[in-house]
Amino acid sequence: MRSTFLLLLLLRLFVSVSCAYFTEFVYPNFTASNLRFISSSKGAFLFSRNSIYKAGLFSPGSDDSSFDFYFSVVHVDSGSTIWSSNRDSPVSNSGTMNLTPRGISVIEDGKSQKPVWSTPVLSSPVYSLRLTDSGNLLLLDHLNVSLWESFQFPTDSIVVGQRLMLGMSLSGSVLESNISTGDYKFLVSESDGLMQWKEQNYWKLRMHTRANVDSNFPVEYLTVTSSGLALMGRNGTVVIIRVALPPSSDFRVAKMDWSGKFIVSRFNGTHMVTEFSGPLDSCQIPFVCGKLGLCSASENQPCSCPDELRLDADERVCVPVSNSLSLPVSCEASNITYLELGLGVSYFSTHFTDPVEHGLELPACHDLCSKNCSCLGVFYENTSRSCYLVKDSFGSLSLVRNSKDNHDLRGYVKLSIKKPNVQSPGNNNNRGSGFPLIALVLLPCSGFFLLIALGFLWCRRCAVMRYSSIREKQVTRPGSFGSGDLGSFHIPGLPQKFEFEELETATENFKMQIGSGGFGAVYKGTLPDETLVAVKKITNHGLHGRQEFCTEIAIIGNIRHTNLVKLRGFCARGRQLLLVYEYMNHGSLEKTLFSGNGPVLEWQERFDIALGTARGLAYLHSGCDQKIIHCDVKPENILLHDHFQPKLSDFGLSKLLSQEESSLFTTMRGTRGYLAPEWITNAAISEKADVYSYGMVLLELVSGRKNCSFRSRSNSVTEENNQNSSSTMATSSGLVYFPLYALDMHEQGRYLELADPRLEGRVTNQEVGKLVRIALCCVHEEPTLRPTMAAVVGMFEGSIPLGNPRMESLNFLRFFGLRFAESSMVEGQNGESENMGFHQRESSNSGGSRHSASYVASQEVSGPR
Ligand SMILES: *[C@@H]1O[C@H](CO)[C@@H](O)[C@H](O)[C@H]1NC(C)=O
Ligand SMILES: *[C@@H]1O[C@H](CO)[C@@H](O)[C@H](O)[C@H]1NC(C)=O
Ligand SMILES: *[C@@H]1O[C@H](CO)[C@@H](O)[C@H](O)[C@H]1NC(C)=O
Ligand SMILES: *[C@@H]1O[C@H](CO)[C@@H](O)[C@H](O)[C@H]1NC(C)=O
Ligand SMILES: *[C@@H]1O[C@H](CO)[C@@H](O)[C@H](O)[C@H]1NC(C)=O
Ligand SMILES: *[C@@H]1O[C@H](CO)[C@@H](O)[C@H](O)[C@H]1NC(C)=O
Ligand SMILES: *[C@@H]1O[C@H](CO)[C@@H](O)[C@H](O)[C@H]1NC(C)=O
Ligand SMILES: *[C@@H]1O[C@H](CO)[C@@H](O)[C@H](O)[C@H]1NC(C)=O
Repeated sequence: MRSTFLLLLLLRLFVSVSCAYFTEFVYPNFTASNLRFISSSKGAFLFSRNSIYKAGLFSPGSDDSSFDFYFSVVHVDSGSTIWSSNRDSPVSNSGTMNLTPRGISVIEDGKSQKPVWSTPVLSSPVYSLRLTDSGNLLLLDHLNVSLWESFQFPTDSIVVGQRLMLGMSLSGSVLESNISTGDYKFLVSESDGLMQWKEQNYWKLRMHTRANVDSNFPVEYLTVTSSGLALMGRNGTVVIIRVALPPSSDFRVAKMDWSGKFIVSRFNGTHMVTEFSGPLDSCQIPFVCGKLGLCSASENQPCSCPDELRLDADERVCVPVSNSLSLPVSCEASNITYLELGLGVSYFSTHFTDPVEHGLELPACHDLCSKNCSCLGVFYENTSRSCYLVKDSFGSLSLVRNSKDNHDLRGYVKLSIKKPNVQSPGNNNNRGSGFPLIALVLLPCSGFFLLIALGFLWCRRCAVMRYSSIREKQVTRPGSFGSGDLGSFHIPGLPQKFEFEELETATENFKMQIGSGGFGAVYKGTLPDETLVAVKKITNHGLHGRQEFCTEIAIIGNIRHTNLVKLRGFCARGRQLLLVYEYMNHGSLEKTLFSGNGPVLEWQERFDIALGTARGLAYLHSGCDQKIIHCDVKPENILLHDHFQPKLSDFGLSKLLSQEESSLFTTMRGTRGYLAPEWITNAAISEKADVYSYGMVLLELVSGRKNCSFRSRSNSVTEENNQNSSSTMATSSGLVYFPLYALDMHEQGRYLELADPRLEGRVTNQEVGKLVRIALCCVHEEPTLRPTMAAVVGMFEGSIPLGNPRMESLNFLRFFGLRFAESSMVEGQNGESENMGFHQRESSNSGGSRHSASYVASQEVSGPR
């Protein structure tokens, strides 16, 4: 009896669920919200009869608590959104879709509010809403005549059976995770499929090597079929341009991707596989490196600022080096100057638009631009004396690899002079001397928001530390400096004070830039006594006051240790601060370890670097009068001297600089991968935060790669591992969060598999094991469980027994690891990990783009140009 009842109950449940599942039609008056259908079908209320598509209110984010819900049509198996109604006006999870005889409206929070989106006025009353087997949403009247269909209002995609008619366009999203309308567009024109950024063309379908031009009739529509992509004409009887793809009955979608590429992909049952994408060369994408960012198609650091500009971290754009110059803010700018960009720097629109005038001299070309407020710069071709103007918004620049292509095109950025009395912007064309410029790409492994949050926290926390440390010091060192000019007093131990002119001479007017970073550029210089120095030029720093400044300088200048870069002197002029360091001839560890060119660091060298760095940190933490927390331990800050003797740089700067620059640490200098968890939680920051960062560096020394990177499975993870340590591999895409992998291999005692494959067996399991165990102890979540740096030195030297990594304090890596992996699946295969400039690269739960990205990457690597 009772079981019958249960059975009936189950049956009823089943019936109601399956009813929800096969609803091909709904009828007015009908109201749906995500909440209402959440239990039966995750927000879907309409399914095509073949169950391939569903419609409902969905959030592209995975967590359903979010506030961005869209009335969308989604491909069920892949999760790809093929159409959205209210992409620019999301509603909350209680927002509704209402079907009435007058059409569809999407309303925030039920009642009387104005719809955020609705269908236009229809010619007759709606009788039903239907989702067809091809994914088309139809409003039908009582005779089943279509009144409106979603296929005629595409968002960023078209699917098989859909036509993108002449004049219609697909608009890419702002970001992968934000489906609002972005700046990239794919437009069907009479002759081609055009891609545009802010209404300016940058690519055409026929430019792709795989596109066949079959005839020259006017184009009528674009279609994607089971055998490819085609622009059709003459009433669908003639193919104009065709891209053949392997015939397939799988779900196939053509999409204007948020990244600026047009991508055709296919769902193979488990993944979205990119079948076609263009442009192949990412540097052809107008905003790939952000405003004025320079795209150089290099695998590691595709984005940088042109040499003539520097990176402004807050805005994440390239800005003039001098503070007295700025990009034109308003038309009022009375004093205009032009900053000449280096040779070979090109701009996308010069390939797609005609010059405003031929046969013009350069000054006349400048004048044309100066006269027009909306002009932001010019490109001038010397031989033809053609003048191109950049209007309204500046995109990214690209470096022409083959300089023959446009050897005499020169770019000029229009700038306003903020105040008189500044030296000319300087046509100093010295390209950096082979030192990598910092990539604009912030963090290969991160979600943008996480980054912002971290940067914010970091800056708050360091500010607090700074203040407390200053207060301490004022007690111990009563203010004896006075507040006058820095030159008017002398403090024993204060590093040498240089005159600005002296440094100008030493660096030959800042000619040879050897590095650049969040703080500003670093230049090579020679002092009168022939010693080589590195001059760090920090512009726009926010010092707390001269007194504190002197105190800090005195402290930093007093620190002497073989593993710390020595501060020789300083120069403060106006808001310009220059720090003079001893010169390191091997550059940074980052460059040596990751760059791939140059000899491989041998194991013994790695060991020595690890030990030396540990000694330097131990000294900072306990060797000098005042404990100094570095706050920014990472390979970039470990410089290498002769015989690969490591020297830590930038210590003490966290105290010297204001909040603004502190945030640079995290945002600009890619420190996030090295940040201890206590930066995020609210625990106190101690020197153990440095120990954590050090542990992360140690792991990178072992593997020779960034901790969060893609690597080919063959040389790092065997199939077998993949099975018994599934946590390591977030996906089959090859992303490894190395600390987690190290943890797994530690548990199995298989250390050798962690070693840099380039070492080719010139290291033993035991030797690797030692470093890995120390590293894992250093990255314990609980700061008190981490050894002190002095203890680390002891472990290296053998005077202290090796620590045992504690699982309970390392399990957080599994959580972090998966998160890192998941938020970066889009990135980085085939060395493309730091590609694509400022864009956020979060993955969505659709498998689509991550695979498309990897496919694109492999295409690009081998692509033409
Ligand atoms: C639907 O609602 C409208 C008013 O919003 C009402 O006039 C109409 O009669 C309703 N139709 C049905 C079938 O309930
Ligand atoms: C409209 O189409 C549905 C489904 O194909 C069918 O059941 C219905 O009879 C049609 N109505 C009319 C008036 O043709
Ligand atoms: C998406 O981007 C738009 C435009 O940049 C912005 O206004 C909006 O707040 C963003 N939405 C979300 C959910 O981040
Ligand atoms: C295009 O084809 C449709 C039917 O397929 C036909 O009705 C129409 O007349 C044709 N138009 C032209 C211009 O050939
Ligand atoms: C689908 O593609 C992915 C990635 O290319 C591949 O790993 C997987 O084996 C494919 N699945 C099928 C069923 O072909
Ligand atoms: C423009 O700059 C010159 C010097 O470069 C200066 O003398 C002049 O006052 C400036 N004009 C304005 C309006 O700022
Ligand atoms: C400035 O350029 C814009 C865009 O090309 C143009 O519409 C406008 O007429 C120009 N203004 C002047 C004063 O030349
Ligand atoms: C431009 O061309 C002229 C002669 O055609 C030459 O004298 C001049 O040096 C060139 N300028 C640049 C910047 O290349």
